[in-house]
Amino acid sequence: STTPVKVAVTGAAGQIGYSLLFRIASGALLGPDTPVELRLLEITPALKALEGVVMELDDCAFPTLAKVEIGDDANKVFDGVNHALLVGARPRGPGMERGDLLEANGGIFAPQGKALNDVAADDIRITVTGNPANTNALIAMSNAPDIPTERFSALTRLDHNRAISQLAAKLGVPVTEIKKMTIWGNHSATQYPDLFHAEVSGKNAAETVGDQDWLAGTFIPTVAKRGAAIIEARGASSAASAASATIDHARTWVEGTADGDWVSMAVRSDGSYGVEEGLISSFPVTVKDGAWSVVQGLDIDDFSRGKIDASVAELAEERDAVKGLGLI
Ligand code: NAI
Repeated sequence: STTPVKVAVTGAAGQIGYSLLFRIASGALLGPDTPVELRLLEITPALKALEGVVMELDDCAFPTLAKVEIGDDANKVFDGVNHALLVGARPRGPGMERGDLLEANGGIFAPQGKALNDVAADDIRITVTGNPANTNALIAMSNAPDIPTERFSALTRLDHNRAISQLAAKLGVPVTEIKKMTIWGNHSATQYPDLFHAEVSGKNAAETVGDQDWLAGTFIPTVAKRGAAIIEARGASSAASAASATIDHARTWVEGTADGDWVSMAVRSDGSYGVEEGLISSFPVTVKDGAWSVVQGLDIDDFSRGKIDASVAELAEERDAVKGLGLI
């Protein structure tokens, strides 16, 4: 039998964890033929709840689940891991300023970056879902000097999937007809979902929609504010869809993108499309043989330029704030 692939999940006792773990354990991430060893990190007070989740994982008798280990010490839980899905983060509390939020998350992602640097497997791939995801990924990356920077990413696949779903609904086509969707920038309300390079049944999406007012006034804000709409309706933030997108992201990183399509991933900018080098920003990427590359050569018009620049400016501000706090 093959050696299990070790998948670490942080914040494993949280809402996203409750959807994510069962799907990973059932083979949704690595397929039906690859055994998985789950390594679950939580803070000490949440370990008891996590033990309950592990009882449920046991009770599923998943053929692909080889082993589960839990703990509150990143240096033990991350030992030898091949994938790290960093979901656990500090949410914004009442009256919390952005600086306080970044500082609290720096206290999580700096030590987790160091631990991954010291004990993860050589092929480690890191996906940050916990918010503020792009800047948390930057903090982890900056604290892991021995891990190649291209192994760090942040999740914008949920935004990408939301954009596909909204466009498909508008045009009355199945989601499978939509290709080449792109989310640019930050996983925040400034993100830019781009229809000018997307395709519907092989035709340009913006032209097919043919309605700039809908694109600018409905589509973009609906995608960018979808998280808030779900909190308003459900009384809790998106969890199953965030877990599903986290799996899509990590699975694409392993399996690659389909011919004629790409996905959105927030990765370290090399300066492409005028995005300041070193920021973790969302781009259109293709993946082959386990490595991503930013799609090159897209024409960016003035409308898109303005939207991308605004989101990247926010990322630069967050970067400056965490630099000021000595976190990177
Ligand atoms: P939750 O509050 O239900 O769970 C978070 C868990 O993380 C808690 O169990 C907590 O104990 C744990 N945790 C906190 N600090 C930790 C640490 N240092 N090490 C390990 N675990 C730690 O939150 P939920 O709903 O599961 O969301 C998790 C994160 O994902 C939040 O930051 C949320 O904003 C973010 N999110 C990101 C999305 C994206 O598209 N990038 C979409 C939806 C949510």
